Amino acid sequence: MTFPDNFYWGAASAAYQVEGAYNEDGKGPGIWDALSEGHVKHRENGNVACDHYHRYKEDVALMKEMGLKAYRFSVSWPRIMPSEGVINEKGLEFYRNLVKELTDAGIEPMCTLFHWNLPMWLHEKGGWYCTKISDYFEKYTETVVEALSDKVSYWMTFNEPACFIGCGYVMGNHAPFEKCMDMEHPEEMAQKIALLSKNVLLSHGKAVQAIRRCAKKAPKIGMALNASLFTPENTSEESVEAARAATFSEQGAFWNLNWWADPMVKGEIPRAMKDVISGEEREIICQPLDFFGFNNYNTNDYDEYEGRNERAWPGMPRTAMDWPITPDALYWAVKFIYGRYGLPVLITENGMANLDFVMSDGKVHDPQRVEFLKVYLAGLKKAVGEGVPVIGYMYWSILDNFEWAEGYDKRFGLVYVDYRTQKRTRKDSSYWYAEVIANNGADL
Ligand code: BG6
Repeated sequence: MTFPDNFYWGAASAAYQVEGAYNEDGKGPGIWDALSEGHVKHRENGNVACDHYHRYKEDVALMKEMGLKAYRFSVSWPRIMPSEGVINEKGLEFYRNLVKELTDAGIEPMCTLFHWNLPMWLHEKGGWYCTKISDYFEKYTETVVEALSDKVSYWMTFNEPACFIGCGYVMGNHAPFEKCMDMEHPEEMAQKIALLSKNVLLSHGKAVQAIRRCAKKAPKIGMALNASLFTPENTSEESVEAARAATFSEQGAFWNLNWWADPMVKGEIPRAMKDVISGEEREIICQPLDFFGFNNYNTNDYDEYEGRNERAWPGMPRTAMDWPITPDALYWAVKFIYGRYGLPVLITENGMANLDFVMSDGKVHDPQRVEFLKVYLAGLKKAVGEGVPVIGYMYWSILDNFEWAEGYDKRFGLVYVDYRTQKRTRKDSSYWYAEVIANNGADL
């Protein structure tokens, strides 16, 4: 058994994390540009990042060297719409050039429309609280799709709404650094979360409609969700069902997958959002999708805050992010997702931060990452062997990059970036991954 012939072996990135050029060629400020000072480790920011905006040709050449079949990137909304009603042609030109470079190299471009850096002018209108934001998102989507859809077929509306709502508006550790978490007024908090989520869901639905309407070639549309994932403790059916039930919690909270995916895919609205979403809105949100994109790094069976840490043990393997290494994660993720939603799955992110540095031989040896990939991909392969349709795997990330509030210390890349010189060095894992791609996972 190997992966399907047309399996998309790829890697991912996001605009603010790699592009830099934060104020060039007509780009407007986004919430990360304007508000992150004082919120990021070592007072770092994404102003320059990997300078991918100027170095995309070199980066695509590295992808080609590795034999990547696909590259998942995101478009920066404030680069395209720097202020209300303004479309920045220069911004569109950058992405046109990028997708041309990719397709010329035989790499499938996969485009995420929103990966967190909301334009400041929209933030000033209330950001994700703004009741009109879905109309603005629809217009933005039309603009991007008109510009890129001669070459782009794969579209993802949102990256990790659980995270940009949860970290950005509930906990306040990501831009715009607002915190509505207030255990003394739980109803008010729940109401706010429901409204924020509704605006994201409506924006998703309108964007899917816009893509189908404007695309120049048949689009493949999905999203890139993340969520808590629980896995069985043993192979009994009971244990599997308990894990499934915990993953798709009946209570429905924004960190559960069903909070976002039930409305999007099944048109079913979780209880806590029922009062704020009308029947008509429900119809808009639930649009036919072509694939289910899922970002996953680990299961949540070992989290203290989930009260499940009895499964953890002192000194268990953890990445540089402190995230547990849980080899079965992708296996259960795609099985549970396909079982509930019936859509082909695309792993839109998976990977690890490691303590990488350039060694005295000039190379970056990262055996931990190779092992991580080996065990996670073996799980994915097992699920494929059991008949789950999986269309691709995007390693996070192609390059080391700006890890949001963590700054530049956490290195997820297949390619090492020296931020003083912008020199790129392929890590050992990138050579290993190239072999996996070349033999389509046969040796996993
Ligand atoms: C991505 C971010 O979408 O999610 C990454 O852009 C980040 O930089 C990752 O590491 C984190 O995912 P999660 O599921 O832990 O929120």
